[in-house]
Amino acid sequence: MAVAARWLAHRAAKPVVFLVALLPLVWLVVGAATDQLGANPAEYLIRATGDWTLRFLCLVLAVTPLRVITATPALARFRRMLGLFVYFYVVLHLTCYAWFDMGFDPGEITRDIAKRPFILVGFSAFVLLTPLAATSFNRAIKALGALRWQRLHKAVYAIAALAILHFYWMRAGKNDFAEVAVYAVVLGALLGWRLVRFFNKKRIHPASSGQGMLPNQ
Ligand code: HEM
Repeated sequence: MAVAARWLAHRAAKPVVFLVALLPLVWLVVGAATDQLGANPAEYLIRATGDWTLRFLCLVLAVTPLRVITATPALARFRRMLGLFVYFYVVLHLTCYAWFDMGFDPGEITRDIAKRPFILVGFSAFVLLTPLAATSFNRAIKALGALRWQRLHKAVYAIAALAILHFYWMRAGKNDFAEVAVYAVVLGALLGWRLVRFFNKKRIHPASSGQGMLPNQ
């Protein structure tokens, strides 16, 4: 454990994590270029980028529980980068959908969002993620003030719920919920851990305003 903690605090750890987080993209680009994405590459790309958005959402929400449980403060250094990778993969997911399914036709996209509830739910998650990505920099935190920034970033709870609903709705047609259940349990456990921690802190410090109880802290 001490070795892992030392490595995580190392100067090279951030660039390494950055490169590892890009591997899914590299794998998809190579797969597309070498025609190895199956019979329907467009569908494959839309689904794979959706999966990676959800995986990075789980990862970013796992940082704080892991940091606290393993007493490894160095983990906090990776939270912002992982959060921005959630946004990076959802932008790719949205771009693949807009390109391969909708031919970049804004009218078609608007009609589809209004017509298919699972698309509306995914799009709502994307809309909520946008201000979080835009305010993840030190200057934005300073401009907003810590408390307002913390309140804004609580939207990550709604984003997690919408992401699961989006996935559930998409799979409902096929009656195939096994993978959805895995992600729902993981995200439920990560958010549940925060709730338990919040109520424990409240019990110990009843007068606390809740400051420092960031969902992503
Ligand atoms: C935080 C936001 C989002 C997350 C976490 C997410 C996640 C997912 C996941 C996990 C899948 C299923 C992949 C699979 O079957 O393996 C999926 C499918 C899909 N998503 Fe999203 N998504 C998000 C936002 C969006 C947005 C903004 C759009 C478009 C406006 C969108 C459109 C789609 C489409 C078209 C599919 C594939 C449906 C099909 O193949 O039948 N998603 N998404």
